[in-house]
Amino acid sequence: MASPSPFLLLLLCLTALWLSSAADDAAGFTTFKVYFHDVVGGPSPTAIRIAQAASSNTSSTAFGAVVAIDDPLTTGPQRAGTGTSTEVGRAQGTYTFADQKTFGLLMTMNFVFTAGEHNGSSLAILGRNEVLSDIREMSIVGGSGKFRMARGYVQAHTIDSGATNGETVVQYTVNVVTTNASEQGGQAKHLEGRKAVGTLASCWLGSGD
Ligand SMILES: *[C@@H]1O[C@H](CO)[C@@H](O)[C@H](O)[C@H]1NC(C)=O
Ligand SMILES: *[C@@H]1O[C@H](CO)[C@@H](O)[C@H](O)[C@H]1NC(C)=O
Ligand SMILES: *[C@@H]1O[C@H](CO)[C@@H](O)[C@H](O)[C@H]1NC(C)=O
Repeated sequence: MASPSPFLLLLLCLTALWLSSAADDAAGFTTFKVYFHDVVGGPSPTAIRIAQAASSNTSSTAFGAVVAIDDPLTTGPQRAGTGTSTEVGRAQGTYTFADQKTFGLLMTMNFVFTAGEHNGSSLAILGRNEVLSDIREMSIVGGSGKFRMARGYVQAHTIDSGATNGETVVQYTVNVVTTNASEQGGQAKHLEGRKAVGTLASCWLGSGD
């Protein structure tokens, strides 16, 4: 039987390697929803204005104002403890009114999980939140715990604008990929590299008969 050219074999081996690493990546993908409660009014607000420019009051988009948040994240759209909705964490950080033409916020926050499946882990989120749009996409730039080395995005969709009671409710759909390398302090990633070299070598050698 005529043996295939070495070049063709190498190409096949590299394709196999690429397919196996693509499958590994997919294994670290997680998606879930949480509901963000931004309480600006009432006796116990969770969002307070901490800074603004002299012109922020007269700006139609509150340009220059900065708000600190410690907003509850719940499993359902209702307040924690109402129906089946429970608190799973807090959104902590700031949002800045960063647009002079529309309500465009710069969100700089951590999702800090304190209960449920992701208890003890956090996600760092950074992005533009044009609050009057239906779906706003922001970046996940990192994380801690099970979300170490995270990357991904969230999609925010307002459920209740808060016009009546001062509590805005926003559904956040979280889409996150982790390498899962952190579980063994980077060991997994190292082993994965060795496995890849092993796959390539055995593919190459195995084809030599
Ligand atoms: C880590 O990998 C396991 C399967 O290997 C998966 O079940 C888990 O969801 C992953 N963790 C994250 C945060 O993606
Ligand atoms: C902006 O308005 C608030 C009340 O709405 C007031 O307390 C504050 O002093 C104003 N700030 C400036 C810089 O005018
Ligand atoms: C979350 O994790 C912490 C630390 O491990 C633990 O003390 C706490 O009981 C957990 N909370 C829930 C609601 O699971």
